Amino acid sequence: MAYNLLRGKRGIIFGALDENSIAWKTALKIKEEGGQFTLTNAPIAMRMGKIKELATQCQAEIIPADATLEADLQTLFTKSMEVLGGKLDFVLHSIGMSPNVRKDRPYGDLNYDWYLKTLDISGVSFHKVLQTAEKTDAMNEWGSIVALTYIASQRTFPDYSDMAQAKAVLESIARSYGYRFAKSKKVRVNTISQSPTKTTAGAGISGFDVFFDYAQMMSPLGNASGEDCANYIALMFSDLSRMVTMQNLMHDGGFSTTGITEDLIARLTK
Ligand SMILES: NC(=O)c1ccc[n+]([C@@H]2O[C@H](COP(=O)([O-])OP(=O)(O)OC[C@H]3O[C@@H](n4cnc5c(N)ncnc54)[C@H](O)[C@@H]3O)[C@@H](O)[C@H]2O)c1
Repeated sequence: MAYNLLRGKRGIIFGALDENSIAWKTALKIKEEGGQFTLTNAPIAMRMGKIKELATQCQAEIIPADATLEADLQTLFTKSMEVLGGKLDFVLHSIGMSPNVRKDRPYGDLNYDWYLKTLDISGVSFHKVLQTAEKTDAMNEWGSIVALTYIASQRTFPDYSDMAQAKAVLESIARSYGYRFAKSKKVRVNTISQSPTKTTAGAGISGFDVFFDYAQMMSPLGNASGEDCANYIALMFSDLSRMVTMQNLMHDGGFSTTGITEDLIARLTK
């Protein structure tokens, strides 16, 4: 059901790779709610991804950008304002990648060049996005910027490896830049901490299916799906959440505040 929550709002969506991507589902939801946007991804991901299908469906323009490159981001923000005909009201950062995870390096034998890449792509890129948005004066007052994160930033999930540090950086940037952007432009900055979700990035974590089943058992409402996440992002981009900023918002069916569940007790009872 659509509520026209985003009618007249413009923005940028990073990270739609295929139909499982949280960003993909979010694009469809935002379109349904009346928003318009440009789509972006790293040039290499575009060759492999199916973003053109999504662009056609949403009547959105694609502007490639590697989120670690300031020049690409500058072009992206400037062109997006041109294409959409004005300043922006929302930005979704839905980006994550760890070469160490991808190449199965154990946490005690990390490649440090790759570690820095993980931090840059999955953490610092959020600062680059925010700084570019500010420097290009791209945001309207009361605009809303959201990045996606995972609870491994705060609690240890061994297979999440160096992505845990990247997510801790990401969440901290939301607080620090959120303060700055609120003061200067009344722009809101938050992270959403999402349940395990079956996507390309999710499935890249070894043992993902066990993560997923465990979280399902430990969440009184069950895992939040990609569609649920898209709905929450739409709410965060709407005027109905205008006083929420500098938060790490748990979107996890209750996982993060549950100690144990009857489901798990039944499973472990000998
Ligand atoms: N899937 C999960 O279980 C889960 C849970 C919590 C949070 N998240 C987060 O949600 C976000 C979206 O991931 P997803 O699960 O939809 O997977 P996904 O693989 O569909 O999306 C990740 C995206 O990051 C993009 N990307 C990688 N390097 C980039 C770069 N240098 N510049 C620009 N884009 C780049 C990829 O091309 C891809 O589109 C990520 O931040 C991820 O960590 C995912």
